[in-house]
Amino acid sequence: MTDKVLNFVEFYSQHLAVPARRNMSEPGVKRGEMLFEQSGCVSCHRPTIKTAVRADRQALSQQTIHPYTDLLLHDMGEGLADNRSEFVANGREWRTPPLWGLGYTEEVNGHTSFLHDGRARNELEAVLWHGGEAETSKQRVLKMSKQERDDLVAFLKSL
Ligand code: HEC
Repeated sequence: MTDKVLNFVEFYSQHLAVPARRNMSEPGVKRGEMLFEQSGCVSCHRPTIKTAVRADRQALSQQTIHPYTDLLLHDMGEGLADNRSEFVANGREWRTPPLWGLGYTEEVNGHTSFLHDGRARNELEAVLWHGGEAETSKQRVLKMSKQERDDLVAFLKSL
């Protein structure tokens, strides 16, 4: 990254915080968080990352952040494939999007369209499009009761 870009990132990390989580102590949200872990969502949507040591960039150095992403590419199966390769990603691979701030999507963007092409109309639809490496996680969601699915969505909306 050029210094200009880094200065910009540093400015924003100091002056614009990630939106705070909401309703964290609600029982449904807590149950949803457990289901998120138990369903293996955390293997890609990693809750916690610690940034590397940057002696020259104190504001970005060794920060513990909760982005709910591993920043990696994953094969998400035929359903999400666009069969167009871009840079190192083949046509079935997508980078895990961060889920922090997801609950503000409607307020900020005026819609709740998710996934790379906006095809999912809400959080649950986004999950049900998961395939490939995330197939097992999706199967677990399909086996959930309605209450459990509602809790999972309540957790996602709390981010
Ligand atoms: C194998 C890695 C992997 C696993 C496991 C996984 N995801 Fe994802 N998730 C992704 C990727 C990659 C995308 C983006 C796909 C796309 O854009 O087409 C995504 C997208 C999403 C989105 C839409 C976010 C947005 O901004 O568009 C939600 C919501 C989501 N995942 C929730 C979950 C939940 C809940 C689980 C567990 C049941 C889960 N994911 C399991 C990799 C994963």
